[in-house]
Amino acid sequence: MEKWDFDGWAESYDEDVTKEDWIHRDYWKVLKLVAGQAEGAVVDIGCGTGSILRFLRSENYVGVEPSEGMRKKFQEKHGFEPLDGHFLSVPIPPESADTVITTYAFHHVPDEEKEDAIKEMLRILKPGGRIVIADVMFESEEEKMRIGEEDGLKEEIEDEYFATVDMLRKICTKLGLECRFERVNRYVWIVKIRKVLTSDRKD
Ligand SMILES: C[S@@+](CC[C@H](N)C(=O)[O-])C[C@H]1O[C@@H](n2cnc3c(N)ncnc32)[C@H](O)[C@@H]1O
Repeated sequence: MEKWDFDGWAESYDEDVTKEDWIHRDYWKVLKLVAGQAEGAVVDIGCGTGSILRFLRSENYVGVEPSEGMRKKFQEKHGFEPLDGHFLSVPIPPESADTVITTYAFHHVPDEEKEDAIKEMLRILKPGGRIVIADVMFESEEEKMRIGEEDGLKEEIEDEYFATVDMLRKICTKLGLECRFERVNRYVWIVKIRKVLTSDRKD
């Protein structure tokens, strides 16, 4: 968190995403696709200014956001505040969410903490619930390096903890989760992870 100034970014964030730079290419399309996957009680981790509420009903929605500046901006826009929390500590009771969503925030979790972040999402999820992660990702470390070089984005890519499909597939296999990957564009993927009911398991 100290690495990035989210409090300082809060004021201009909504304007910046409309510039559709490489990270935010298809921003609104991605939020709409994620919202379309969200059912029942929705928890949005790293919700920022709550832009996804353009596509979701606020009665079913709880945002979680560590930056005070982002929480304040969210409150100004929507008239209620998200909870103060982060990927490794989500202030939500166990098994209370039908869908956990996160857009453009998972790349702030260091690779070695990604498995714990997924476990924390699973903790708050009802059996049979789903996690939907939308973010910049790459198929593999090789693809990450290649795209970084081809697109002149080596430094920007090295500055963040962008996940790879390989890495997330391994974590899901280890935790016995079903996962599906959908590529939206050259940079952004949507990952759907299902908390499998014990009765649904094949083993
Ligand atoms: C690029 S913004 C995305 C905001 C919003 N989800 C969206 O799609 O516009 C990233 C957000 O993640 C939050 N964030 C950073 N580190 C985080 C962490 N460890 N846990 C949860 N949220 C985090 C930041 O404060 C920021 O609001």
